[in-house]
Amino acid sequence: MDKYTLCAEDFSLDNQELLLGETLFHNANGYLGVRGCFEEGYPQGFSQVRGTYINGFYDFAYMGQAEKLHGLVEEKQTILNVADTQTITLKLEGETFSMFEGTVMKSRRVLDMRKGITLREIWWESPGGRQVRIKITRMASFVDTSLFLVRYELEPLNFDGTAELVSAHIGDVKNFFDPNDPRVAGEEIQHILIGETWEDGGASYILSNTSKSGKTVCSAVKNAAEEPEQVEAHGLSLEKGLARETFRVKLVRRKCFRLLKYTVLCDSCHFADPAGQAKEKLEALTAQPAKALYEGQERYLDAFWDTCEIDVYGDGELNRALTYNVYQLLQSVTKDRYGNIAAKGLSGEGYEGHYFWDTEMYILPFFTLTNREIARNLIGYRYQILENARENARQMGHKQGALYPWRTIMGSECSGYFPSGTAAYHISGDVAYSVVAYYLASGDLEFMEQCGAEIVVETARLWMDLGCWYQGKFHINEVTGPDEYTCMVNNNYYTNALAKYNLIWAAKLYGRLKEAGKADGLAERTGLTDGEAEAFVKTAEAVFLPYDEELGINPQDDSFLQKKLWDVSAIPEEDKPLLLHHHPLELYRYQVCKQADTVLAHFILEEEEDLETIRKSYAYYEKVTTHDSSLSSCIFSIMAARLGMVEKAYGYFGDSAKMDLYNAHKNTKDGIHTANMGGSYMGIVYGFGGLRIREQGLSLRPCLPKQWEGYHFRFLYEDSVIEVRISRETCAVTLLRGTEKEIVIYDRPYVLRDRIEIPMEQGAGE
Ligand code: BGC
Repeated sequence: MDKYTLCAEDFSLDNQELLLGETLFHNANGYLGVRGCFEEGYPQGFSQVRGTYINGFYDFAYMGQAEKLHGLVEEKQTILNVADTQTITLKLEGETFSMFEGTVMKSRRVLDMRKGITLREIWWESPGGRQVRIKITRMASFVDTSLFLVRYELEPLNFDGTAELVSAHIGDVKNFFDPNDPRVAGEEIQHILIGETWEDGGASYILSNTSKSGKTVCSAVKNAAEEPEQVEAHGLSLEKGLARETFRVKLVRRKCFRLLKYTVLCDSCHFADPAGQAKEKLEALTAQPAKALYEGQERYLDAFWDTCEIDVYGDGELNRALTYNVYQLLQSVTKDRYGNIAAKGLSGEGYEGHYFWDTEMYILPFFTLTNREIARNLIGYRYQILENARENARQMGHKQGALYPWRTIMGSECSGYFPSGTAAYHISGDVAYSVVAYYLASGDLEFMEQCGAEIVVETARLWMDLGCWYQGKFHINEVTGPDEYTCMVNNNYYTNALAKYNLIWAAKLYGRLKEAGKADGLAERTGLTDGEAEAFVKTAEAVFLPYDEELGINPQDDSFLQKKLWDVSAIPEEDKPLLLHHHPLELYRYQVCKQADTVLAHFILEEEEDLETIRKSYAYYEKVTTHDSSLSSCIFSIMAARLGMVEKAYGYFGDSAKMDLYNAHKNTKDGIHTANMGGSYMGIVYGFGGLRIREQGLSLRPCLPKQWEGYHFRFLYEDSVIEVRISRETCAVTLLRGTEKEIVIYDRPYVLRDRIEIPMEQGAGE
């Protein structure tokens, strides 16, 4: 089996495994996502998250605060479960198909990442002895992202007779909730209100409204037998919010019957006329042969895999996990600027479909290096909500600047618990960092002129307003860094270092635009002057970065080292993650980290410190980090590789790469961990490959774990496509397209014209 195929043979019917399978085998395309539930459902008493989601489509929900302090957020946005169109039931001569009855002779579930489909195939014997093969193929189209297509194939193996298939379109749906888990919605709310249900041209349409946000969504479903002569009778019945189409089919032994079920979704965040456009699309899509739709999907994916080639040799399982992660990033990411990429993509309701800093620091790097258009969309989304970020800053008492919401869908803040929400001001620095990273990798000054520079200037202004001068240094107080087990601190190293970078780059981008005669728009829109840009630089130079002489490390913040140490090595399994078993205040009073914080700062802003400080800090933080956040192990892997600890890097990398496929955090049922997936990509490219794209240019510092034979990856740099191939003996860098480039490998400069091949260095990075 190649790395593009994920297959579960004779899969378990245990409820927890089914929930996991719903996530792992979900279909998505960046616009819509459908969980991989069984078409026919589960038995009574089984839990399932039978969800279909649209990226960026939301309702508002009340989020009560026990104490109504000024400025606390009382309304959040939530992603919506929209119409269920995956339901299809089957009866064979009156016997209802269910994997939980009769005998499953054989079964498999497959995800094919080159074809962009999933399938479930079952060889089943009914209690009455009728044997059938059922094969269900699902596709969320990348070509027309409104389309979700199901193909239901039925082959009687030992009988002739009749089958009855009922294909349902169910508008009356609710979101999943769990009052005991802070990571999903806590209560049951009716967000979707059915408006109209109608039939048109043999298709059913349901138009629904959201309860509070004033949005609408139209779902359109059309069923079509591939060989209509096999259908003896069929009929569509409609009631409010529910359409059922019944097919009575003549079955002939060993002859397949195939039903195509087309779903088109259009919502009012993306479409001006959801019902009209759903109809137009459905008609156009059903008019072409299904084969063309499947071929289009394959072509799209051929192009995708070509630009982001990444391969590890010598560990098939790990390679598949990495491929899976990259594929999930594509499935999850918006293809326009109305959405972004949610922490769980479109695979589940964990974190309610919210967008976090995960996008900028963990996922954008992948797209910046492989797909500029998507990278620009993600940054473009932040530009679209810049006004919200300005308002958010005012709400928080800042006279100037933009504070991006910690979690959001349409731009306003959704975090209920501000200490590890709104207080995470670093998100504004993260957004600015990602804009600069895009600029450094692409050289796209025009995009900076259009929107990038404005984001960087407005976030820089936030730091100017937030910080204060004390004894000649610029301090940033009462913020939360990436580590959510340490909240509301002064001078969080990560935040301060990023603020410094943000300030410097606001001035630099302004300078570069001025030089190119392109700064007028920025100056006009923001009122930025030379004087203000100079103040940014002066302040940046004075930003306080905590350093402890005795330990030779950067403390995470001013008070971190004063706290008691938590013995992380002694945490019992049942106590993990700590956040579900300890009061936040208890956690805050200890030196215990949920995730990489200073270590992440050292990765992204390495120039700030000498290697010795970075090394000692790594060792220090490793002892107090639980990796309870999925955003952690990939960063420890990258930095271990940077510091020459290749074995360690390999260990952390495995944790990251296989996290969802092995359900390592035990919550993949709520959705995939998209940030970690981006992190595992970074683990190869930035970690083992040692790629860096900084102002000084491009550099590599490759190393190779002893368990592998080699690896390769491709990336975009300025106008070029570059491939890096690592084997035990050599590091080969090839210019696949574009113009020659300067590149530093193991600290030595080269000019890449065609290809450079040099020997691998042992202990690279040490
Ligand atoms: C992490 C955050 C992250 C969020 C969403 C939390 O567990 O601590 O850093 O943004 O999950 O993925």
